[in-house]
Amino acid sequence: MTTRISVIGTGYLGATHAAGMAELGYEVIGVDTDAARIQALAAGQVPFYEPGLPELITKHVASGRLRFTTSLEEAAGTADVHFVCVGTPQGVNGAADVSFLHAVIDKLVPALRRPALIVGKSTVPVGTAESLLPRVAALTPRGVDVELAWNPEFLREGHAVHDTLHPNRLVFGVTSPAAEWALRNVYAAAIAEGAPVVVSNLPTAELVKVSANAFLATKISFINAMAELCELTGADVTSLADALGHDDRIGRKFLGAGLGYGGGCLPKDVRALVARAEELGSGRSVEFLHGVEAINDRRRDRVVDEALSVLRHVDGRAFGRVAVLGASFKPLSD
Ligand SMILES: NC(=O)c1ccc[n+]([C@@H]2O[C@H](COP(=O)([O-])OP(=O)(O)OC[C@H]3O[C@@H](n4cnc5c(N)ncnc54)[C@H](O)[C@@H]3O)[C@@H](O)[C@H]2O)c1
Repeated sequence: MTTRISVIGTGYLGATHAAGMAELGYEVIGVDTDAARIQALAAGQVPFYEPGLPELITKHVASGRLRFTTSLEEAAGTADVHFVCVGTPQGVNGAADVSFLHAVIDKLVPALRRPALIVGKSTVPVGTAESLLPRVAALTPRGVDVELAWNPEFLREGHAVHDTLHPNRLVFGVTSPAAEWALRNVYAAAIAEGAPVVVSNLPTAELVKVSANAFLATKISFINAMAELCELTGADVTSLADALGHDDRIGRKFLGAGLGYGGGCLPKDVRALVARAEELGSGRSVEFLHGVEAINDRRRDRVVDEALSVLRHVDGRAFGRVAVLGASFKPLSD
């Protein structure tokens, strides 16, 4: 019997995941509270730029394997595996706001009438999934078997379709062998291609995602810190990065000095990790991330200062025409 999949929250992550699962042959239902988004996706229109995604959605809406709805109840009645992909935006003091996630659990679980595996894909503070377990248990209808797992997503914007179909690793945070096997079944194609699988408990799976992003941010800030020294000494940061990058313990990726990191994930996830560590009374463990952020913020000031220095100045005000080449935070992204 084919696994039927629901994807709850059809934003950047969810729309791509839903289309990817349909491409893998599953029957997929995408759910979102945003009726306009659902209508657009059903017509093959994607409200952000991601190469290949509109084509893939159109293909599978036409093939009948992918449909979209605003009804979570419909998804509850249809699917065996529910991927939760709702937003976890920056909330108070940089902490991640998990209220959309709670809203999904509160509505989905009581509506379940068949055995279900709920799989969190959203990026959440470590400890979130375990804190949801009693909530899931309390809301589960009598006689229905419901499990919760966490499967963080590592897709790169601009390569989201490829990364969804061919992930470079899979992390399954589970509480039972049954959940692990259900996920191995869903991702059988990627595993057959050689994608490594790390099976862990729930907190590890959550922490993998934020710590990966914190590491990448640290790498970018590291090279930008070196850029500051290069500017003072006449050293060339690009040659420096090339030379560092030839060391395969370091690698050349994410050693591009420039404006610093941005986009929807790195700044938010770094701040959320700091907030969570502080909440756990372990702010010192991630103290260095304040430095990482400070370097990142300085780069923007530096670029503005550089731009000002080449403009005409009259009476303390700068005049000139400024062109910005490339308005996205990285190539091929929105
Ligand atoms: N965008 C990425 O590249 C990326 C990569 C990996 C992980 N993530 C993580 O995935 C999560 C989602 O990110 P995104 O970029 O797709 O966000 P997004 O804002 O593009 O999409 C979130 C979607 O969830 C929907 N939603 C909110 N509440 C809902 C509810 N109760 N029921 C159904 N739908 C609901 C919203 O309407 C929206 O369409 C975040 O935790 C993010 O950190 C994102």
